[in-house]
Amino acid sequence: MYQKERVNFGSKLGAILAAAGSAVGLGNIWRFPYETGNHGGAAFILIYLGCVFLFGLPIMIAEFTVGRHAGASTGEAFKALAPKGCWKYIGYLGVLTGFLILGYYSVVAGWTLEYIFQAVTNRFAGRSSSEFITMFQDFSLNPFRPLVWLFVFILLTHFIIVKGVQKGIERSSKVLMPVLFILILLLAVCSIMLPGAEKGIEFLLKPDFGKVTPSVFLGAMGQAFFSLSLGMGCLSTYASYFGKDTRLGHTAMSVGVIDTFVAVLAGLIIFPAAFSVGIQPDAGPSLIFITLPNVFQQAFSGVPVLAYVCSILFYVLLALAALTSTISLHEVSTAFLHEKFNFSRGKAARMVTAGSLIIGIVASLALGVWSDYKIAGMNFFDALDFLTAKIMLPIGGMMTALFVGWVLNRQIVRDEVTNYGSLKAGYYPVYIFILKYIAPIGIAAIFLNELGLF
Ligand code: TRP
Repeated sequence: MYQKERVNFGSKLGAILAAAGSAVGLGNIWRFPYETGNHGGAAFILIYLGCVFLFGLPIMIAEFTVGRHAGASTGEAFKALAPKGCWKYIGYLGVLTGFLILGYYSVVAGWTLEYIFQAVTNRFAGRSSSEFITMFQDFSLNPFRPLVWLFVFILLTHFIIVKGVQKGIERSSKVLMPVLFILILLLAVCSIMLPGAEKGIEFLLKPDFGKVTPSVFLGAMGQAFFSLSLGMGCLSTYASYFGKDTRLGHTAMSVGVIDTFVAVLAGLIIFPAAFSVGIQPDAGPSLIFITLPNVFQQAFSGVPVLAYVCSILFYVLLALAALTSTISLHEVSTAFLHEKFNFSRGKAARMVTAGSLIIGIVASLALGVWSDYKIAGMNFFDALDFLTAKIMLPIGGMMTALFVGWVLNRQIVRDEVTNYGSLKAGYYPVYIFILKYIAPIGIAAIFLNELGLF
């Protein structure tokens, strides 16, 4: 009982913020809108929400369980909990997946730095929507500029990883998250008020189930895993730093709700704006970099100072949201090399940084000068995104569900969710049922459906 009264509020909030910092990122503001656009809008969002609550939250609690109970980063956690058999490969697969994501994710994170630069030097002022398209194309086709920003962004991540994240990131998240939230809310209102915005709102809120093809399911599931940072042990690595009193179910729910809210709000900014200026919603990865500067210019055309300040603020916050995510991705590989091979943290971090830089360079050039080289019809950037988000993450998530549902000692599973009996956790039977049956079968069904086997 004594323990219970001495609940350490700081660390519980810290746990939520660190996990939310990992989850909220480019996945919400950059990837969610263009995936929604590519897959036809509102019906995609409904299926996405289903994936978040049905697969996402239970698998998040399962990852928390693995990480906190093992007290090790994901690469070692599965091995510690099940030394025999092949379960340890879930951990290794996760490390590889995270490393690949870090590479191409940093490319887009680098773009945010370019856009901060453009905003600060007031290059958005007075441009028309077609000029924003040209501006983005010129930038991404340039063989050097994106690479410079990629390099800067990975170095920033490296620097924080080496210095130790805990305090800096936790403390700044407490300020940044609310600011980001208020700013997105404000922008959503501005965007909705643009002329012709109704079409965008309709696209976002009126489901057309005629457009639901198998790839819509795969896309929504991939997006759910990507946005929640699930399926590769990112959150299980963070959970290895959770305190004993952190409530796993409550933390997962908080992260899920925050992440979903930010994504839907981002949609409310992008689509009204895109339809208003006549940009196709399926413009792909460039979508937010073309529509957003336009929103600022149009919404605040009478008050250029506001347009200037909001543009800077937005891209700074976007870069910081991306940074808290790249840190979490980098941490998984760094902690793995450090624990497994006994490299110093510094050396491990340098290896991860160098490796992700190479992947990032190839991914970045694949969008410009190397765009003619294709893998299965996709450039290297898109192929990496497809492979990780739509295949590797769901497989990792499914294996984690199977592991916690069927293999891990049931008493451990219960103890972790109830904090050794001090919480009721009434959702427990449902949680177990989902891990054992619903999540594995559901994920497998989506794969089979995509392959056309139904
Ligand atoms: N979830 C983050 C975002 O939405 C990206 C991210 C961080 C991630 N860690 C991850 C994605 C682990 C998949 C797996 O931007």
